[in-house]
Amino acid sequence: TPTTYRTLDGKAPLIIAHRGASGLRPEHTLESYQLAIDQGADFIESDVVLTKDQVLVCRHEPMLSGTTNVAQLPQFASRKTTKVVDGVAYNDWFVSDFTLAEIKTLRAVQAMADRSQQYNGQFLIPTFQEVIDLAKAQTTAKGRVIGVYPETKHPTFHEALGLPITDKLLEILTQAGWNSKEAPVYVQSFEVGNLRALHLKSPLKLIQLLDADDVDASGNLVMKAPYAQPYDFVVAGDARTFLDLTTDAGLDFIKTYAVGIGPWKPYIQPYTTDKKLPATTLIERAHQRGLAVHAYTFRDESRYLLKDYDNDPQAEYKNFYSLGLDGVFTDYTATAIAAKNNL
Ligand code: G3P
Ligand code: CA
Repeated sequence: TPTTYRTLDGKAPLIIAHRGASGLRPEHTLESYQLAIDQGADFIESDVVLTKDQVLVCRHEPMLSGTTNVAQLPQFASRKTTKVVDGVAYNDWFVSDFTLAEIKTLRAVQAMADRSQQYNGQFLIPTFQEVIDLAKAQTTAKGRVIGVYPETKHPTFHEALGLPITDKLLEILTQAGWNSKEAPVYVQSFEVGNLRALHLKSPLKLIQLLDADDVDASGNLVMKAPYAQPYDFVVAGDARTFLDLTTDAGLDFIKTYAVGIGPWKPYIQPYTTDKKLPATTLIERAHQRGLAVHAYTFRDESRYLLKDYDNDPQAEYKNFYSLGLDGVFTDYTATAIAAKNNL
């Protein structure tokens, strides 16, 4: 195990428990978070959304049917509705239509069919306050710092409903004494405008997530709308353009409000060889600007592994660690740590 790394600060890469130990427990439950901490995670990653009574709860989507038993509960049968989230209509149960008390009557279920379903129906939906409390208690219990890594999910969708998700997050972190650069906190989002607004109000460490699932005519990965928020990139008159946040100009822009980027891992190494790698890797170009790189999502199942790593998730981690990656979002904390210890 090396004592220095090619990371921005020379320290070991951060192990960020993506939705907790979500490979082994229903995601975003205190039980999932606790298991990840027991396995050695540095940070708990929580996607956050806002209830009708403006409480931050941990869910990956503003919808409830994918990760809870809401569809089985007759008392909520009439609460199914249609809403548009980032341009896509969903007919579902929405967190924003439920009070916290109602959310607490639900139970979490495993969203992925090929992962263990044995814990379905047992665990509650946590508030983000409970996650802060857990991180603080476990920092004391374990004698090492355990941080939180919230992601504001769909801020524009929430704001349009009159739900101030980012302000609520700032409020709760401030109450926790964690509205500072030194706090064991990173705030992440896909939405640019949301992070820039937060930067004007707070010294918190911000991470710009980078999403992509498209390639251009040359086979290069490209940034897709709507995450490249158009109102940030009006150039002149009616002419609008999207800035590809993975370009040098995009990274320079991100540097004005964030301390790092959270790219989808194929931005660093493509899934298949028909998608080209740039001559200088994204990690190098980010580091040249003082930006840390935390990539997502690392999983044990072979279908999520990049090319050449079939059935060997540790080899995938090791390659990314050797490239100087500063942090991994992983569903399997134990595997990420084993790979680090075996470098
Ligand atoms: O936050 C990093 C990663 O979690 C982004 O993707 O969809 O899993 O929230 P998602
Ligand atoms: Ca996330």
